[in-house]
Amino acid sequence: MRTEQLFAAESLEDGEIRRHEIDGYGPVSVCRIGAEYFCFDDTCTHEDASLADGEIDGDEVICPFHMGSFNVRTGDAVRAPCFHPLKVHDTAVVDGVLVITLR
Ligand code: FES
Repeated sequence: MRTEQLFAAESLEDGEIRRHEIDGYGPVSVCRIGAEYFCFDDTCTHEDASLADGEIDGDEVICPFHMGSFNVRTGDAVRAPCFHPLKVHDTAVVDGVLVITLR
C-alpha cells in the first residue's frame, strides 16, 4: 500500500473534483462531497476521458465524454456506457492535509 499526501483538504470546494498525478502510478481524481473526500482513478473505464473534467451528482461522478457515471464510494459503474468499475482509493485528512492510500 502506498500513501500520498496531496494538499490542504479545505482547498477543495464542496462538489469539486481535482486531478492529481501520482509518480509511478498515474492520474487520480479527488473530490469532496460535503465533509467527505473520495479518490478514484482519473481515467474513465469506457474510454480515455479524465473524470476530473466531469461533474459530481450526488454520490456519482459523471464522465464528460459520454455521460456515463460511477459511484465515487464504491467505484461501481452506474450509468452506461460505463460497465467496468473504477478503482477507488482510501482517503483521510491528517492535520488538515488530504492523504490518500492507493489500493
Ligand atoms: Fe467516459 Fe465514455 S469515456 S463514458
